[in-house]
Amino acid sequence: MDGAVLFATKYGSTAEYAGWIGQAAGLPVFDVRKEAVDPEEFDFLILVTPVIYYKLLITDWVQRNLTKLNGKPIIMVTVSGAPPGPKLDAWVGDSLPAEFIANATHVALRGRQIPGELTWFDRAMLIIAAWRNPDPVASEEELKGFDYMDKESIAPIVALANEYKAREPAASEAQAAT
Ligand SMILES: Cc1cc2nc3c(=O)[nH]c(=O)nc-3n(C[C@H](O)[C@H](O)[C@H](O)COP(=O)(O)O)c2cc1C
Repeated sequence: MDGAVLFATKYGSTAEYAGWIGQAAGLPVFDVRKEAVDPEEFDFLILVTPVIYYKLLITDWVQRNLTKLNGKPIIMVTVSGAPPGPKLDAWVGDSLPAEFIANATHVALRGRQIPGELTWFDRAMLIIAAWRNPDPVASEEELKGFDYMDKESIAPIVALANEYKAREPAASEAQAAT
């Protein structure tokens, strides 16, 4: 099957992960907020998105393309400060329709946040969030930033992408292409 890596990013760390995944899996990479991409051109998709203010940045694009994404194999890669767990699952659940999530394989990666690179607005919001956050580790990260970028962590995504690439397209799609 033919696939592609589609990403959204605010400060670049998700773009970096998307580039690594595209290179390792031999797939084209597109920034959905800068390029018009038609999901129908691909048999499977790897969607890579950061969590920004408890929501997935790629949510609007997914909502706009929902009918074209229905039933397609999707690897949903989140990039966040929070580690995998119920908090992250809840943010994913609040961002996307339940049927879409049920059809996708979610892989959670951890990103980067450098306070000096943030807009004044984001910096101020994160300082307020840090004051309010009862979790001391998360609070410290909101205030001082973090860097969990790890190229090795893309391995399960690349393995799954290679599995999808080796598969024949679904009969209906193969027919449509002839
Ligand atoms: C304004 C802002 C809000 C964020 N909100 C969250 C959040 O709600 N939950 C979380 O786990 N991480 C949050 N993060 C951390 C980002 O998910 C992390 O820094 C990610 O690597 C950013 O991706 P990007 O560099 O592609 O924009 C936030 C970061 C910023 C700058």
